[in-house]
Amino acid sequence: MIRKFRYSDLKDILEIEKRAFPKSPYSKFTFLYYASAYPDNFLVYIPENNEEGLNKIVGYIIFYPGGHIISIAVHPAYRRRGIGTELVGEVLKRTEGNASVEVRESNEVAKGFYKHLGFSLQTIIPGYYGDEDALVMIRKGT
Ligand SMILES: CC(C)(COP(=O)(O)OP(=O)(O)OC[C@H]1O[C@@H](n2cnc3c(N)ncnc32)[C@H](O)[C@@H]1OP(=O)(O)O)[C@@H](O)C(=O)NCCC(=O)NCCS
Repeated sequence: MIRKFRYSDLKDILEIEKRAFPKSPYSKFTFLYYASAYPDNFLVYIPENNEEGLNKIVGYIIFYPGGHIISIAVHPAYRRRGIGTELVGEVLKRTEGNASVEVRESNEVAKGFYKHLGFSLQTIIPGYYGDEDALVMIRKGT
């Protein structure tokens, strides 16, 4: 199930974030900023048939209204089950299939993930992450 972020999700989100981006996790304050600035565009994924019921968050996505993905992460134990695809699908539903994202050049998994979803390389931003370039990947709707 996918629903909007609630403040009680924060603990799970921070745990996912730490595992997904060990070098540069977003802080609690960054998540709270996005939750207040874009409450409709911060979504979480809850697996069905889990012991913790409606409180178990295993993935999230945050995006700008125009379809630019700010961040997405899925808990390592729940990857390769289509959850990331479903989360990006929620963005594409709202934007007629148009979206964009910056990806670290070294993030082979993310590059493969977005290619699989129909994104392609638009440009490179040198030094975007300080220590690394960003690939800007875009998807055009049909
Ligand atoms: C990127 C990420 C969100 C993908 O989530 P996910 O739920 O595992 O993705 P899906 O199961 O929907 O994968 C869809 C497709 O992407 C590709 N893909 C995903 N993970 C992959 C991997 N580890 N290796 C190769 N291809 C991969 C595959 O084509 C996959 O389809 P398949 O499983 O049928 O082969 C997840 O790996 C993650 O949280 N990574 C760390 C955070 C991150 O890098 N975020 C993106 C920053 S821009």
